[in-house]
Formats: sequence, structure tokens, C-alpha cells
Amino acid sequence: MTTPLLQTNNLSLTRPGGQQVLQDINLQLTIGERVGLIGPNGAGKTSLMLCMTGVTHSTAGDIRMDGVTLAAGGFHPGLGFVFQQAEDQLFSPTVAEDVAFGARNIGLTGSALDTAVATALDRVGITALAHRPVHHLSGGEKRLACLAGVLVMEPRALLLDEPSAALDLRNRRRLIDLLHQMDQALLIASHDLELVLELCPRVILIDAGRIVADGPARMILSDAALMVRHGQEVPHSLTHAGHVAHSHHRAM
Ligand SMILES: Nc1ncnc2c1ncn2[C@@H]1O[C@H](COP(=O)(O)OP(=O)(O)OP(=O)(O)O)[C@@H](O)[C@H]1O
Ligand SMILES: [Mg+2]
Repeated sequence: MTTPLLQTNNLSLTRPGGQQVLQDINLQLTIGERVGLIGPNGAGKTSLMLCMTGVTHSTAGDIRMDGVTLAAGGFHPGLGFVFQQAEDQLFSPTVAEDVAFGARNIGLTGSALDTAVATALDRVGITALAHRPVHHLSGGEKRLACLAGVLVMEPRALLLDEPSAALDLRNRRRLIDLLHQMDQALLIASHDLELVLELCPRVILIDAGRIVADGPARMILSDAALMVRHGQEVPHSLTHAGHVAHSHHRAM
């Protein structure tokens, strides 16, 4: 068997008060694979991503990239993470400086740095915001700036926490198109199940800190009993009503 690009082995997180936030999470991502991470509020999606990137120290288990254990608290440019709360990620005075910080992290300087920053801003469509103060951006603009700041490091795997939250429909579509074109492995935590369905052939459903399903997206997302049991709904495009509405729309 080939070594997965990214894997967690029995990853667990117990808070100091005793709350088991994550229990024995075993997941694997292969090169270029796109996986949706779904589950109700408080299921542990963000906690899992924070553990995988080493922001939060797991209390048991480990995370490996190319089979090599990632040291907790280390800097792993191959593994990018876009926070659920953009404010947790942006800290430079301007958008361009924030993206440049990421570029410097991977050793870029001079004109190579300038080119990388310009390319990243262009990819997410915020070139016009380059010199705007970060704290003046709208919520959606902040999310895009965060994404640019991670893309500039050219990670091989990218963890995205609620990437479409706060985006208007045009920017949501731009994000989906951009993620479609990317060849990085993607783990996407989202309540936007239509986005998950469009982007991810595979879905992992977690609830109360445990993986309860891991398999083909259409199979899991269309399993009404499973979805309801874990606080979800079958997305409209997979329901009979969705099909009817769609064909009706086409007939007009
Ligand atoms: N810093 C913290 N200290 C203590 N408990 C926390 C902390 N952060 C999160 N939790 C708890 O851990 C659990 C998992 O939270 P987490 O943010 O991972 O859920 P989530 O699946 O991302 O939810 P959402 O869909 O609302 O984003 C929740 O019960 C939450 O209250
Ligand atoms: Mg979350």
C-alpha cells in the first residue's frame, strides 16, 4: 500500500476539564484528494483541524505527512490551514503584507516574493485590496485574504474551516472554481453541503468527536436516516424535490 499524503492515527483530544473533544480519529488523505468534513456544531471539526496543524496539542495519537510524524508546535509549510475565524489568522497591517508574511515563511525574497504575493492575490480575486488595512476588510474579504496568505506557501495539503461562510454568491462560486482547479489535497469542513457535494467525492461525518461515516459523498449525504441522526439534512440537490425543481427549471 502506498503511504498516504496525510494521516491521523488514533488522534484524541481531551480538554483539561475532562471533555473528550476527539476520540480515536483515524483518517487518511491521498495526494490531491478532496474530502468534505461534516458534522453538527460542536462535533469537533475545528478541533480536529487545529490538532492536525499542531495549533492545538492532541492528547493522544499522531499526525503524519508522507509517513513522517509532524512535531507538535513545529512549522509545516506543506500543510496549510485557513481558520474558521479570519481574525485569528490576519495580523499584518495590510493585505499584501499579510500574504508576504506567508511567502517569507517559505524563504521567498525580493522579486520572487513580490510575484508570489501578486499571484496569490490574483488567484483569489483580491488584487484591488492589496494595500487596504486588514481591519477595514469585510468578513468575506478577510476570508479571501486568509486563503491568499495560505496559498502563497504552496502547501501540498490544505485544511479549510468553513471556507464559504460569509462569502457572497459570486465569491462563493469563485472559491469553488478555485478549489476545483487546485491540485492540493483538500480537507474542507463545512455546513455548506452543496459546496461539499460539488467539490468532494468523499465525505467524513463526525459527531461528538468520533468519525461516524467515511465514504463516497453521494452515498453519505443521501442517507437520510444517517444525516438526521447526526443533525444534518440531505442537501436539496439530492432530494426528490431537488430533482423536480431542477427539471422544472430546465423546462422553462
Ligand atoms: N478552547 C476550548 N476549550 C474548551 N472547549 C473547547 C475549546 N474549543 C472548542 N471546545 C469545545 O470542543 C467541542 C468541539 O468544538 P469545535 O469547535 O471543534 O466544533 P465544530 O465541529 O468545529 O463546530 P462548528 O460547526 O460550530 O464550527 C465543543 O464542545 C466546544 O465547545
Ligand atoms: Mg468549527
